[in-house]
Amino acid sequence: MKILVTGGTGYIGSHTVVELQTKGHEVIIVDNLSNSSAEIADKIALITGVKPRLEIFDLTDGNRTSDFFERNNDIAGVIHFAAFKAVGESVQKPLLYYQNNLTSLINILQGMNDNGIQNIVFSSSCTVYGQPDELPVSESAPIKIAESPYGNTKQISEEIIKDTINTSDLHAIALRYFNPIGAHETALIGELPIGVPNNLVPFITQTAIGIRDYLSVFGDTYPTPDGTAIRDYIHVVDLAKAHVIAVDRMLNDKMKTDFEVFNLGTGFGYSVLEVINSFEKVTGLKLNYKIVDRREGDITQVWADPEYSNKELGWKAEKGIDEMNLSAWKWEMAYQESKK
Ligand code: UFG
Repeated sequence: MKILVTGGTGYIGSHTVVELQTKGHEVIIVDNLSNSSAEIADKIALITGVKPRLEIFDLTDGNRTSDFFERNNDIAGVIHFAAFKAVGESVQKPLLYYQNNLTSLINILQGMNDNGIQNIVFSSSCTVYGQPDELPVSESAPIKIAESPYGNTKQISEEIIKDTINTSDLHAIALRYFNPIGAHETALIGELPIGVPNNLVPFITQTAIGIRDYLSVFGDTYPTPDGTAIRDYIHVVDLAKAHVIAVDRMLNDKMKTDFEVFNLGTGFGYSVLEVINSFEKVTGLKLNYKIVDRREGDITQVWADPEYSNKELGWKAEKGIDEMNLSAWKWEMAYQESKK
């Protein structure tokens, strides 16, 4: 089946394209390359043997987007990743985030409606739950007031999709990710932060390889066993596989309602220090880190209740924290080597 993957040269997008192609889907990527590069399509081809078609344009451009859908009205389903995703930046530049993340979604839904394309998988986030009242977090946990404009764009996007479903033949699955880390086993694709990484694991690998002097651990006075914040880290390949299952579920009319939501996490929480310990164990390296103040907007702890996803999607995250860290490290080493 022909699947449009927006943001398909990005971190989660590229891993998902690999899994889609591996399962026999034909993929078209649309990406504006604002946070990625066209070479990723070649890397994907090295892994799968098939170079995905790549169209480079900005989905906030309504005319370009509508023209694309007219030309490609045989698309069976859309997986929509393309979005800005830096929480801190979204606080500084809220309008940029609302403009980019919401306009592109609206243009895509319009293009789908106009051309009879009915299936979309939306890249959502566990950030919609804020600091949940109960752990683990299931899909029925209440949506909290968003902690950042970024988080708000995910909440509003889900609302936009639901409202569109009410007046059209659209079907949608929102996948709420916990913390994706790690890289493909070939070390040909992985996370490629531009500039100083915001997220924990890219910062760890860049510190270990000597690009950064030390990792700042944001706070050790949280009410957790070792005082550092806890997250549910999930291997990006496990996450990617869930997208293929979600798309197939839609295409095979297996959805229970027109709008479904699934948590994608492992069900296990690790503290920042536990992630560092695992990294040191699997790499044999000593990581230079310092405890500093808490980062504004961080929640104390969150991990998923993946039971519903496990049961309904027949999917389970398989890779543990050590494998995630090791794959991230192999990717960092391979990437730095490739730049020499
Ligand atoms: N952390 C550090 N030092 C760093 C970076 C992070 O100690 O240099 C800590 C954070 O304080 C947090 C944990 O590591 O406790 C994970 O932080 P990340 O920035 O890797 O991830 P977040 O949980 O903050 O955010 C991620 C995604 C968001 C998504 C969110 C949902 O980046 O896109 O999960 O919870 F919205």
